[in-house]
Amino acid sequence: MARQIKYGMVGGHNKAFIGDVHRKALNFDPRAELVAGCFSTREALNRETGETYGLAADRVYPDYETMAKAEAARPDGIDFVVIVTPNATHYPVAKCFLEAGIHVFCEKPLCFTVEQAEDLKRISEAKGLLFGVAHAYTGYTMSKVMKEMIAEGKIGEIVAVNAEYAQDWLLNELDPNSTGQTNIAIWRTDPSQSGIANCIGDIGTHIENYVAYITGRKIRRVLATRDKFGKALELNANMIVEYDNGAHGAYWCSQVAAGHCNGLAVRVYGDKGSLEWVQENPEVVRFTPVNEAPRIINRGTAAVTEKAGAFGRIPSGHPEGLYVAFANLYREYLNAIEAKKAGRDASGFDFPTVDMGLDGVKFVHAVVESADNGSKWVDIR
Ligand SMILES: NC(=O)c1ccc[n+]([C@@H]2O[C@H](COP(=O)([O-])OP(=O)(O)OC[C@H]3O[C@@H](n4cnc5c(N)ncnc54)[C@H](O)[C@@H]3O)[C@@H](O)[C@H]2O)c1
Repeated sequence: MARQIKYGMVGGHNKAFIGDVHRKALNFDPRAELVAGCFSTREALNRETGETYGLAADRVYPDYETMAKAEAARPDGIDFVVIVTPNATHYPVAKCFLEAGIHVFCEKPLCFTVEQAEDLKRISEAKGLLFGVAHAYTGYTMSKVMKEMIAEGKIGEIVAVNAEYAQDWLLNELDPNSTGQTNIAIWRTDPSQSGIANCIGDIGTHIENYVAYITGRKIRRVLATRDKFGKALELNANMIVEYDNGAHGAYWCSQVAAGHCNGLAVRVYGDKGSLEWVQENPEVVRFTPVNEAPRIINRGTAAVTEKAGAFGRIPSGHPEGLYVAFANLYREYLNAIEAKKAGRDASGFDFPTVDMGLDGVKFVHAVVESADNGSKWVDIR
């Protein structure tokens, strides 16, 4: 039987990073099929990638504008597009597909400016189109578990948050004898491709999104520092945030933290207990009720509700990972697409939306404004 939901991809040629993760995650779902793409502006790479996935030659497009126009005109055109290009192109590509009437799933950070993000929100809402944003860490089962526990009051009122995303893959940027950058390092550290921030947008937005998702708390204002080490954009940043209940959080993101790979770690403290989750050990949550010994909650055990547990794909003890986290975002997004196609209500599905993308862009701008102006408090509006 033919797959019911057709998608296309912009970016993500065979040698690129995250496009392949999206394709593999979508392959967890029997409903989705890749049928079109503009995987690279380099003709040979574009063609080769299309051939790898068995695409018809006339559906491998030389540019995204041609792709949006042609796919919108086909009776069997794509239902949604996945955007996995560097940050600079997210806005024009997303806008182009929305205007062609095609649902969008876009990488983060959503775009360069708050005005652009508001524009994407406005167009998608006006046209009744779905807009997903790839904040994948919220897709882990244990992220759902923490969200439920916090909503149920298991740790009480939130009094403090401590969260970090530490990497070391740009350490060579600090080395004057370095022999050069990798391809993905080049665009990430170039403001014309990356935007006004590097690691704040690249990984700081994951912290912002993750804490907002599990706690439901909004950030009122931020105070920050960023360290550029003589480069155009920062490789390290510290942020103090104030939430809408008056509590404070301390966030740190770094790409020059020796010994760290993808060290997203989130600790939420309430007046009745605390929760801790570490992305590199994503199957467990550490729960400490006040005055009691810490407990380790494993995916797949009785402590996990049926609703959160349903996001797991294999029995606990067999480690799941980032592919499944992405696949969980897509399962919810595809449920929403299916609902749209059937004329049903498509609201309420559990995937990061354009609103969260907009929050991320606002966060980046407030952090940069604070850091570049003597670490003053900056309100987020
Ligand atoms: N959600 C996550 O956890 C996560 C992880 C990594 C990267 N990202 C985001 O994904 C995006 C891509 O990052 P990456 O590391 O995969 O980069 P990459 O450099 O590996 O890949 C970029 C791809 O975009 C293509 N491209 C560039 N301009 C294009 C255009 N105009 N038309 C068609 N294709 C074009 C390139 O040819 C390449 O295939 C970035 O926005 C990044 O922030 C998110």
